[in-house]
Amino acid sequence: AEYDTLMVEQRGGVTLITLNRPKALNALNSQVLAELLAALAAFDADATQGCAVLTGSEKAFAAGADIKEMSAQGFAEMYGGNFFGGYERLTQTRKPIIAAVAGYALGGGCELAMMCDFILAADTAKFGQPEIKLAVTPGMGGSQRLARAVGKAKAMEMCLTGRMIDAAEAERAGLVSRIVPAAELVEESVRTAQTIADMAPLAVLANKEMVNAAFETTLAQGVQFERRLFHGLFGTADQKEGMAAFVEKRPGQWTGK
Ligand code: HXC
Repeated sequence: AEYDTLMVEQRGGVTLITLNRPKALNALNSQVLAELLAALAAFDADATQGCAVLTGSEKAFAAGADIKEMSAQGFAEMYGGNFFGGYERLTQTRKPIIAAVAGYALGGGCELAMMCDFILAADTAKFGQPEIKLAVTPGMGGSQRLARAVGKAKAMEMCLTGRMIDAAEAERAGLVSRIVPAAELVEESVRTAQTIADMAPLAVLANKEMVNAAFETTLAQGVQFERRLFHGLFGTADQKEGMAAFVEKRPGQWTGK
């Protein structure tokens, strides 16, 4: 499919999606949302693809929701139209999505990165929730996901002051999994995604699903959920193959069954 605001390419088992509105620093408007949901649905349905990478430009992952599109809207349009409510559908993608962030990830941009399964940051990355400076708040889950990722103190300070944090502070706070030199960000993210795409597909789905359960359940329920999925994988051919391959000192050959 062809998109106006995205570039999508397949590299082996990895779908690389690049936000492409350079003149607006990849500000997220309704068209970006519609195209991103379509591209991710196609990725999720394509059995040759095992992991996605979502990235922006060197200057900006995304500088937020498109302020020019939002500014004139009233309550009826925002609430009635469930403005950007559709972004939650992104989190229903069953295969993993890595956010590869260079430059600004502000407002909706930071929220979009946090909706992905983990964030790899270039050393140039800057994260922030500056909505308060526009007299509003995060609206794509930022207050909730940031608080879970970095804890109350830093989330509260960032939301109340709009202060941006750099890659090093984001890594210390647990917002990003690691920092990569900017020039290597996309390549390293695709390599990491290919590592995941090379794993047994059902085990990938199960690992993603159970880590996410940690944010939705009590510890006892989460542990139970983990154990049930773990037990279930012993009904798959790939579990037999994976353990036989280990014993025979050879790589596993997955069937996805
Ligand atoms: C629309 C934007 C934009 C945005 C940048 N642009 N961010 N357009 N929405 N969020 C546009 C600018 O208007 C400008 O267009 C062009 O991109 C380049 O931006 P500059 O400001 O000239 O670049 P620079 O001086 O380098 O500053 C970069 C910046 C700054 C620090 C990232 O652009 C900035 O502060 N942007 C807004 C960040 C923000 O407040 N984000 C939160 C948005 S609210 P022209 O045409 O003038 O050249 C949000 C709510 C989420 O995200 C909830 C949704 C439900």
